[in-house]
Amino acid sequence: MPADLPPIDKAKFVAAKRAVAFIEGGMRVGLGTGSTAAWMVRCLGERVRNEGLKITGVPTSSRTAALAREEGIEVVTLDQARWLDLTIDGTDEFDADLNLIKGGGGALLQEKIVATASDQMIVIADAAKEVAHLGAFPLPIEVIGFGWQTSKALVEEMLVSLDVLGREITLRMNGDRPYITDEGNHILDLHLGRIGNARQLALALNQVPGVVENGLFIDICDRVIIGHGDGQVETRDINTGAVERERIEFAETDNLFTDLGE
Ligand code: A5P
Repeated sequence: MPADLPPIDKAKFVAAKRAVAFIEGGMRVGLGTGSTAAWMVRCLGERVRNEGLKITGVPTSSRTAALAREEGIEVVTLDQARWLDLTIDGTDEFDADLNLIKGGGGALLQEKIVATASDQMIVIADAAKEVAHLGAFPLPIEVIGFGWQTSKALVEEMLVSLDVLGREITLRMNGDRPYITDEGNHILDLHLGRIGNARQLALALNQVPGVVENGLFIDICDRVIIGHGDGQVETRDINTGAVERERIEFAETDNLFTDLGE
C-alpha cells in the first residue's frame, strides 16, 4: 500500500475489506455505488480471482456494473436475480439506529431498490459519516424531468410543516447541465441542516407528484462497518446489538490502490 495514501482511503479500504468477508460462495450480492463501495467491488474481485469465489453481483449503477465486470465479477440484473442474500453499500450519513442518507453519488434509486430486495444490508463507512442527527449532508431526492420545478415547489411547501432546520433546495448539476441519473431523472438536493423525524419526512417526500424516491434509508440497514485510517474496524449489528472491533493489517498484496475516479 502506498504510504502516501490518505487516511480516509485507508479507512474506506479496511471497512470494504471486512465487509467482503461476509460474502460466501453462491450468494447473490447487491453491489453499492460510490468511492467506498468501489473499494468493496475491488476487494470482492480479488476474492473471486484468488479464491475462485463464485458469486453473482447485482450492481446499483452503470459505473459499478462497469467496475464489477472489469474485476471479473459475474453481473446480472435485479430482475434476473430477483432476491439477494446481501447488499454492501456506502453511505453519506448514518445515525445510531443505522438510518441513512444516501445518494450523494446520484444512485439512490437503484441503491434503495437493491437494498430493499436483500435479506441483509451492510453499510461501509469511514467514521466521519456517523452523525447524531441526519441532515447535515444534503438529502438527495430523485425527480422526473417533467415539471421538476413544480415538484421542487411542492416539496418546499411541504417542508414548512415538517421538523427540519433549513429548506433550501438545489438542482444537482453536471457542469452547466442538470445531472441525469441512470434512470434519466434529475436530483434535487435538500439542504435541511437537521432532520427531526426522518421516517415522517421519507414518507411525505414520496407523496409529492414527480418525486420518484428519496435518499433516506429507514430500517433497511442491518450492520455498519466503520473503518479507520490506522486499520481499525468496528462492526455494529443493529439487530443483535453486537459490536466487534478488530484491526486489519495492510498487506503488500493489497495492490488495489489505483485511482478509481470516484
Ligand atoms: C451513491 O449514490 C451514494 O449513495 C453513495 O453510496 C454515498 O454517496 C457514499 O459515497 P462515498 O462512499 O463515495 O462517500
